[in-house]
Amino acid sequence: MTILLLGSGGREHALAWKMLQSDKCSKLFVAPGNAGTASIATNLNLNILDFEAIKKVVLQENIEMVVVGPEDPLVLGIYDFFKNDTDLKNIPVIGPSKVGAQLEGSKEFAKQFLVKHNIPTAGYNSFTATTVEKGCQFLETLQSPYVLKADGLAAGKGVLIIQDLAEAKEELRNMLVNQKFGQASSKVVIEEFLDGIELSCFVLTDGKNYKILPTAKDYKRIGEGDSGLNTGGMGAVSPVPFADAILMEKIETRIVRPTIDGLKKEGIEYKGFVFIGLIIVKGEPIVIEYNVRMGDPETEVVIPRIKTDLVELFQAVANEKLDTVSLEIDSRSATTVMLVSGGYPEEYEKGKAITGIENITDSIVFHAGTKQENGQVLSNGGRVLAITSYGDNFQEAIKKSYQNIDKLHFDKMYFRTDIGLDLL
Ligand code: AMP
Ligand code: GLY
Repeated sequence: MTILLLGSGGREHALAWKMLQSDKCSKLFVAPGNAGTASIATNLNLNILDFEAIKKVVLQENIEMVVVGPEDPLVLGIYDFFKNDTDLKNIPVIGPSKVGAQLEGSKEFAKQFLVKHNIPTAGYNSFTATTVEKGCQFLETLQSPYVLKADGLAAGKGVLIIQDLAEAKEELRNMLVNQKFGQASSKVVIEEFLDGIELSCFVLTDGKNYKILPTAKDYKRIGEGDSGLNTGGMGAVSPVPFADAILMEKIETRIVRPTIDGLKKEGIEYKGFVFIGLIIVKGEPIVIEYNVRMGDPETEVVIPRIKTDLVELFQAVANEKLDTVSLEIDSRSATTVMLVSGGYPEEYEKGKAITGIENITDSIVFHAGTKQENGQVLSNGGRVLAITSYGDNFQEAIKKSYQNIDKLHFDKMYFRTDIGLDLL
């Protein structure tokens, strides 16, 4: 079948790499893609939020399935656009409906869903510009640190964790009254701070059945020892050593199953990935967020560990037959280290020539922010390459990633040297 994948990051290169291993995929388009996807598939220069433009390409190229990488087209309703169009309605979109995507598109929607379905989550209250003083009073009832979350999509920057009460009140006003994150912070969720270890759980669902994918841990901060500014993610490890059978059983019975059952009960169509952000407090899993897509760079370690044909899994999702496919997981560990542009996540330069990729043999180089120009691969974003390796354990895998990074170079290249160290 001919497939169109939307997105341009390391996540999309990893998904493309895996889908192309399937004999069910005869042709793959990626829009807009990067230099990595261009080397294995056909990139299309498309605005992925322009659904009419996508429709044109889908009909022109006889595309038979659309797989959505990032959240924006999902929150904007690409699933419903296809479903309600007479020419497109039989072409499956792998991703949730517009309502389902609200699990990521609105923090308040997600909190209400969690509470309604008795899924453990941090206590909260939400406020708008007219209730900002009530919000300040609510902050006074909480202990430091204070967690403020912009309700809408804010490109991963919408969560503030603040130690000082006066500063928390000021930021709350900034978000609600001064629209610090624009429309996204016209509503703010104030949440109880949870002190524990973070873990990401990934689920693929057809809306009725589900498969729990390998767990992963992501390293969000720019600096060593988890210091400095938040980024999209600087590295990842799968599986997470502390996610043992006892914890996974709790996660499945208390969180995954009630989530899928809740979607079904509410009649919310959902055929795609659910990424559940958890904090484990004294051995008990608590949800801090839902995302309606795979994580990046978590995909670059989760997908390489899936042995089952990914296109077959997607077809089963589309046909609501996920219960008929068995999910096979590689027992090896996978790690990835992100190479980023110097300055990221603040200002950085693009267009740097990347050298050494052809010398990497025992790691997989997934491209993130790259482009191809006159036969040369150039950096084209903050996160540039993800170097993924396998090993019998994560220590062995991470060693391979770092050995191979020594062979790669671009001007002002930066990476964290401590990925996985906290798990030892
Ligand atoms: P998010 O943008 O929702 O992924 O949140 C960013 C980060 O904020 C998470 O990865 C956590 O480290 C942290 N965080 C979010 N909610 C809480 C909470 N209730 N307690 C402690 N940390 C949190
Ligand atoms: N790595 C975190 C995310 O994709 O949201």
